[in-house]
Amino acid sequence: MRKGIILAGGDGSRLFPLTFSVTKQLLPIHDKPMIYYPLSTLLELEIKNILIICKEKDKLQLNNLLGDGSNFGITLSYLTQNKPNGIAEGLVIAEDFLSGDDCVFILGDNLFIGQFESKVIKNELYKKNGATIFSYKVNDPERYGVVILDKNDEPKEIFEKPKKFISEYAITGIYFYDQEAVNIAKTLKPSKRKELEITDVNKHYLSKKLLRVVNLDKNITWLDAGTISSFYDASHLVSTIEIRTGRKIACLEEISFSKKFISLDLLKKNRERYGPSNYGKYLEKIINKNF
Ligand code: G1P
Repeated sequence: MRKGIILAGGDGSRLFPLTFSVTKQLLPIHDKPMIYYPLSTLLELEIKNILIICKEKDKLQLNNLLGDGSNFGITLSYLTQNKPNGIAEGLVIAEDFLSGDDCVFILGDNLFIGQFESKVIKNELYKKNGATIFSYKVNDPERYGVVILDKNDEPKEIFEKPKKFISEYAITGIYFYDQEAVNIAKTLKPSKRKELEITDVNKHYLSKKLLRVVNLDKNITWLDAGTISSFYDASHLVSTIEIRTGRKIACLEEISFSKKFISLDLLKKNRERYGPSNYGKYLEKIINKNF
């Protein structure tokens, strides 16, 4: 089974001063810390061995929040990225953790709301060679890596943050990689912004014709929370959906209980931690089978 990596390093400089002393991934998106969202996506994909890469100063706080993963019936470990040397450096840091396994690599500020466990996406988990990236049509592609598709919807070219419009398909921050990704990342040179770019890893797979692109359909809303406006947009969207439907997005215990990663007894024990909060009351509904 693939292993999971959540990249929660970086300075969060587009959110300064919010992120001067608190890492972006611990800031709230509506009623829960941002990292709950990418972690929930990995849980939905049934990835149970997950590495969180963060700054040394944030390790303790993230560990206080999520622990060793046993509350969710999974294994969580933590490694450090001390300098913001780029997303692709995460693959190099994860080398020993991966020890030759394939992975799902997700950025700590990316939210996938909806059916991320659909058949099409799950099928990609079992493909052996190469990489799968996920595109999403956006209004502001210049903020992202983008992919140009040919007439057969095969990837033709990819670019990081193109200044001129070339494609409306942004590349989202979740990547399925085979074991080669670590070696590819090791060969990269820093870009103009002095980072090892994940786009360069993807370009390498593309040059070998080993890059698959799946376009996320209307059942999924993709958001990143890396800028002030996208951060608040994400919070508003989550709160609107949660209030309207009465269902929580990214409730880690709900997902792990529904996947049978944890028992009812453990769910009850977890519930105590959340005290009188709405999140705690929601867990109670699950315990009492009110859903
Ligand atoms: C990074 C990647 C970019 C991708 C984006 C998704 O951008 O470099 O290719 O589209 O994440 O959130 P960054 O957050 O470094 O600007």
